[in-house]
Amino acid sequence: MRCLSETSALTLFAPAKLNLFLQVLGKRPDGYHELDTLMVSVGIYDSLRFTEEPSGGIELRCRDAGSIFRRDADRGQTLPTGEDNLVVRAARLLQESTGTRRGARIELCKRIPLAAGLGGGSSDAAATLVGLNRFWKLGLSSPELHALAARLGSDVNFFLSPTPLARCRGRGEQIEPLRLPLALHFVIARPRTGIATAQVFKHCRPEATAPSANDLVEKLSRGELGNAGKLLHNSLQAPAEQLNDEVLQLKRTFDRLPFLGHQLTGSGTSYFGLCANRDHASRLAARVRAESPADYFVAAATCSP
Ligand code: C5P
Repeated sequence: MRCLSETSALTLFAPAKLNLFLQVLGKRPDGYHELDTLMVSVGIYDSLRFTEEPSGGIELRCRDAGSIFRRDADRGQTLPTGEDNLVVRAARLLQESTGTRRGARIELCKRIPLAAGLGGGSSDAAATLVGLNRFWKLGLSSPELHALAARLGSDVNFFLSPTPLARCRGRGEQIEPLRLPLALHFVIARPRTGIATAQVFKHCRPEATAPSANDLVEKLSRGELGNAGKLLHNSLQAPAEQLNDEVLQLKRTFDRLPFLGHQLTGSGTSYFGLCANRDHASRLAARVRAESPADYFVAAATCSP
């Protein structure tokens, strides 16, 4: 997570994610689903600036920071900044669990589209845990931050990963950081409508056969992008297609184009294609624009240092 430190403020950049692989293994007694998923962080960032709030309270302000989010505002999807917001919940959880009396003003600049399967809310929550742990000098260890992250949502732990690529199990909160030896380039398209995550999980049926994440991890580690593209998988794609016709339309559009592989990310509704390199991504993005009414953008995952 990139970070900018000033005398009285701290700014963190919270990336989006894509699911290169997502297999639903079954329903658990707690109502969640057991997952095996491979996530990668991509270079679309929200930013969070933390300054002191002398009253000890938590004050969140949200600012539209880019054209991607402006379209969300056009759709009437504005981000609530009250107690339900994951950023506020993360800050309160830190206060409660450490007993600190310090407060924070948090200025959140949104660039990651809302409710899009791109993990924006979870990434903002992870950045809040990391940012306020530093800003308030709480000294929480990585395992302690992970324990708090798991209480906020299934994807929050991924964004604490020290590497851009991680395999996540359990309900998504058990992460295994993996090295990414090369940059990955994507075209990401975002339909006009969204779907509720819980609905997509509810409509997910067991699959007769599914590829293994092990094979995809191996191809990626060898830099075999063409083979990796063939092994992308998402168990939530079939139910999402049934629930939202725009997802099906995007799949058909991407099918006609020479991507190395393509699929839904998370529970959607964003859809992405894996490309051979940056130029390939730019060319295919232009074709997506010509053939689909969805918003689209090009993004990359940078390799591990
Ligand atoms: O954990 P999070 O709040 O992100 O999950 C949102 C919803 O997605 C849950 O309420 C649940 O319905 C569904 N979900 C699930 N199994 C998971 C993760 C999420 O059923 N592993």
